[in-house]
Amino acid sequence: MAAFGTVFTPEMIISRFNSNGWSTPEVVASNSINLHPGAHVLHYASTCFEGLKAFKHADGSIYIFRMEQNVARLQQSSALLTLPKVDTAMLRQMILDIVKRYAVDVPTPPGSMYIRPTHIGTEASIGKAAAPSLESMLYVLLSPVGDYFAGGSKALRLLLEDNARCASHMGMVKSGGNYASALQPIIKARATVNADQVLFCPNGDVQETGAANFLLFDGNEIITKALDSSFLHGITRDSILTLARDRGMKVSERELTVDELLERVQKPGTEAALSGTAAVLTPVGTLIHNGKDYAVGSGTSDTTNALRQALNDIQWGSAEDKHGWLTKVC
Ligand code: PLP
Ligand code: COI
Repeated sequence: MAAFGTVFTPEMIISRFNSNGWSTPEVVASNSINLHPGAHVLHYASTCFEGLKAFKHADGSIYIFRMEQNVARLQQSSALLTLPKVDTAMLRQMILDIVKRYAVDVPTPPGSMYIRPTHIGTEASIGKAAAPSLESMLYVLLSPVGDYFAGGSKALRLLLEDNARCASHMGMVKSGGNYASALQPIIKARATVNADQVLFCPNGDVQETGAANFLLFDGNEIITKALDSSFLHGITRDSILTLARDRGMKVSERELTVDELLERVQKPGTEAALSGTAAVLTPVGTLIHNGKDYAVGSGTSDTTNALRQALNDIQWGSAEDKHGWLTKVC
């Protein structure tokens, strides 16, 4: 299987914003865009994106998972980056149109079609370091995918890092610059302690990893950081917490310190997992802190697997969509 996100459908859908408003969306080849070398995004990182998935059900119909939330989050990221306001009705239609056009290419479960709406500042002005781009481009790329982590759902090794992933007021923006600022620590963690990911814990506050949220399961309780502006408000996180509440679990959204985390994972039966559109719900087997490995619980991931299955069952159409999370494409 090709690496996650390296295969694209031959076309995407695009609209451009200028003083006349948004252009009528067009389906174009997905292998290039025309951008001025002085475009705002290339210099001042006016870029945000989304990640959501379309699933093929047993009868061949196609559904998108929680599209409204992703559209709303792109709107929020665009606002926080002072990019032009996204026309959300238009974006919704762009997503539906391009997914419908490539419906036959949506993989069957456990695969899916990963949908990547992207919004970038295109105004050619290298003087606008402290001013917004008045022109932009919004396109929706499609990539048929399987597992994000190369090891499938093999338990991950996470290095606990004392620094922040990104600037604290930018955490809830799904923007390229945040991934850039997390890259060096992740590469270093892979090279030095063979970690799969870094769990960013600025000042001992357990936050999130480079591309997923972090959840701790202790018996019937889920503990995860309460929403604030410092990290990404994952839609998978919200879905898992909802499914956990449905099953009668106690959901504690609150501060979790590194000290409490390391103490709790030493108890048998504790589990930890990463949640994200790409990651789904992947078990964490080991936390690495100050040169020491801490095995999580007794190595079981029953709760993680049950919640992942409950999520997949809705996405794949084998359980009732009680919360109205699916949008039918065709
Ligand atoms: N945190 C970061 C930094 C991410 O990149 C992602 C992935 O999208 C998430 C959390 C999880 O968000 P979601 O569940 O909406 O995909
Ligand atoms: C997602 O889960 O959609 C993400 O954005 C992760 C990604 C950076 C591959």
